Amino acid sequence: MSKTVICPGSFDPVTLGHLDIIKRAAKMFDHVIVAVLVNSAKSPCFSTEERMRFLEEVTGDIENVEISSFDGLLAEYCKQRGADAIVKGLRAVSDFEYEFQMAITNKKINPELETIFLMANADSMYLSSSMVREVAAMGGDITNFVPDCIRDEIVERMLTLRK
Ligand code: COA
Repeated sequence: MSKTVICPGSFDPVTLGHLDIIKRAAKMFDHVIVAVLVNSAKSPCFSTEERMRFLEEVTGDIENVEISSFDGLLAEYCKQRGADAIVKGLRAVSDFEYEFQMAITNKKINPELETIFLMANADSMYLSSSMVREVAAMGGDITNFVPDCIRDEIVERMLTLRK
């Protein structure tokens, strides 16, 4: 039976850590839907369209990955898309409590839905989108944090926002 999973997130912007989780999920499941949260309390630096375009660019060579966006409850979106599970990366123990809470809430809303955690790789343990934005805004090198093809655009935007 074909298995579909959803990798949700803000992706503001996508990092090498996110990409690692997406690639590994794509090897394990038939169809991976990367879902960008539209209305986040976080007020993103990059628009939904920009975040989706970055994701399209960095996953363009992975056949079974689809980029989408959603608004509202993740558990409802999973139901709507016929997803079997949510896949998320776990970076550190500090991620666990919040992720645990989200997984239980999602299961209460949609009892059929599983949440699968993949351990972040050692290089991504410390990574986050806000750290990437901060380093770029201060003129630091983000080569080790984001895919090459989107690096310059992120740097340019963050430097402009700083002015
Ligand atoms: N590599 C690098 N960074 C990672 C990462 C990885 N593998 N996994 C997570 N991160 C970072 C992100 O970059 C982000 O960093 P930032 O805070 O510096 O921007 C941080 O971890 C949090 O990730 P983010 O994607 O912003 O949000 P989240 O994990 O808290 O959850 C949703 C996002 C979309 C899953 C969640 O908000 C959601 O489900 N929203 C819909 C509403 C809903 O259904 N609510 C009820 C369920 S609780």
